[in-house]
Amino acid sequence: MTDRSPATPAERAALSGRSDIPLAHARLETLFDAGSFDEIGADVVHRVDAFGLGERRIPGDGVVTGAGTVEGRTVFAYAQDRTVLGGSLGEAHAMKIARLLDLADRAGAPIVALLDSGGARIQEGVDALAGYGEIFRRSVRASGRIPQIAIVCGPCAGGAVYSPALMDFTIMVDRQATMFLTGPRVVRTVTFEDVTAEALGGGEVHAGRTGVAHFLCDTDTEAIATARALLRYLPSSAAVPAPQHATDDPIDRDLSGLGALLPASARTPYDVRDIVREVLDRDSLLEVHARWAANVVVAFGRIAGHPVGVVANQPLVQAGCLDSAASRKAARFIRTCDAVGLPLVSFVDVPGFLPGRDEELQGAITHGAKLLYAWCEATVPRVGLILRKAYGGAYIVMNSKHVGADVALAWPSAEIAVMGARGAVEVLLRRRIAAADDPAAEQARAEAEYAEHFLTPRQAAERGHIDAVIPPEETRRRIARALAHLRGKTDPLPPARHRNMPT
Ligand code: HXC
Repeated sequence: MTDRSPATPAERAALSGRSDIPLAHARLETLFDAGSFDEIGADVVHRVDAFGLGERRIPGDGVVTGAGTVEGRTVFAYAQDRTVLGGSLGEAHAMKIARLLDLADRAGAPIVALLDSGGARIQEGVDALAGYGEIFRRSVRASGRIPQIAIVCGPCAGGAVYSPALMDFTIMVDRQATMFLTGPRVVRTVTFEDVTAEALGGGEVHAGRTGVAHFLCDTDTEAIATARALLRYLPSSAAVPAPQHATDDPIDRDLSGLGALLPASARTPYDVRDIVREVLDRDSLLEVHARWAANVVVAFGRIAGHPVGVVANQPLVQAGCLDSAASRKAARFIRTCDAVGLPLVSFVDVPGFLPGRDEELQGAITHGAKLLYAWCEATVPRVGLILRKAYGGAYIVMNSKHVGADVALAWPSAEIAVMGARGAVEVLLRRRIAAADDPAAEQARAEAEYAEHFLTPRQAAERGHIDAVIPPEETRRRIARALAHLRGKTDPLPPARHRNMPT
């Protein structure tokens, strides 16, 4: 069961090293570089008397707002204080957050929200609701301009969940944070369904099932450390480059074992992250949405000290097939990187989109279109690498040159074709095989012939759809150099009021 009691001095001390400060301050102390946090609006109080609220005017009104530095760069942050009126959001509380969003957007610096609140302050009625609206609008206007990270530390109910949902990343603290539009009590009265808060909107639900949460952490400390880690990859705003980190990992590091990570049989699964990790700078991989739609991997990493976004099919799960959830996950990540100017690198090994009625009924068409849309729209430097299978629509969709990749590479093991050998032979030669003296032998012969002809990168390279077929050991060097060549890339989209994402 969720523990929502005010933090003990020991909990606060574990977070910030200090037991004498309120929980919200302790969380902010943990987020920011030591001694760098300056609070704004500590004296603000609400102006409501209804329901005994007049006697409960607490300076700060249940939210601590301000700015400080994270690894030397300015970040704005707010933390709701559940010990003040349940962290509920009234007019003054909302105004503090809205002003902070304005400041962050104007200053071109990220904002981190530490959420721990019973939602709209009931005693303030429509003023509380108006406050949420003011926050949502600012969050959307700042979207794509500055990074926005939500850390959900406690309850987050009702329309309040749209605050993190509108931001770029949501981090939840397991068995402590809950997010739902309608809480268990209301659910019970409306639908007679008996459900716990955890089952309705706990960390497992949102990190594993809905994709609402990008990260699930065990403690507040870990969640805040994750936000700090995330900020290391992100520029302060879309107007400036991402932070570069010194690295002693050479781009021509010996990768002679890399090709062997790909199993000899195309039917044997493997973990694509083992390959991605080797190509990136040592220890630089930070996986996003690790528990959701694991058939595609999205992650931040660095190459030659420069942050990149990675999108990789994962043959370990569903043979790496794309489906609705994977398409949504990858599309969102691509757009997040593109918005702030982070280059994208794809690692492709995909047999296609998952076929079947379930998937069609999920809306595979419109979700797959989101992925296509995101790649077609992205104007950052883009390098694609095909490891093995790149079949059919999935070949086009997964960062092919046709949808805007700048540089397309392939390993010799790449299989770029309309479909795999068995399916192709079944469609093309079914009758001939059935009529053969030895149908099994004829089938095998036809499949081998198809594989020899089509399951290679040869035809694509001859057409210029692949720029180079490279031995695996050259992968890191080639990608690093391609990204260096592309660093000055500009490719603005034609003007429009705004583009229109598929639903
Ligand atoms: C005013 C609130 C409050 C709220 C909690 N409190 N939520 N006060 N408005 N929304 C107060 C409680 O009265 C209590 O005050 C103190 O905070 C602690 O709350 P408890 O219930 O004792 O704590 P706990 O048992 O830990 O439960 C926490 C909780 C629960 C799960 C968050 O309080 C709860 O269900 N609150 C309501 C959640 C909700 O439905 N919110 C509205 C969503 S609608 P005292 O004085 O006793 O210490 C919404 C609209 C947004 O947010 C619209 C945007 C478009």
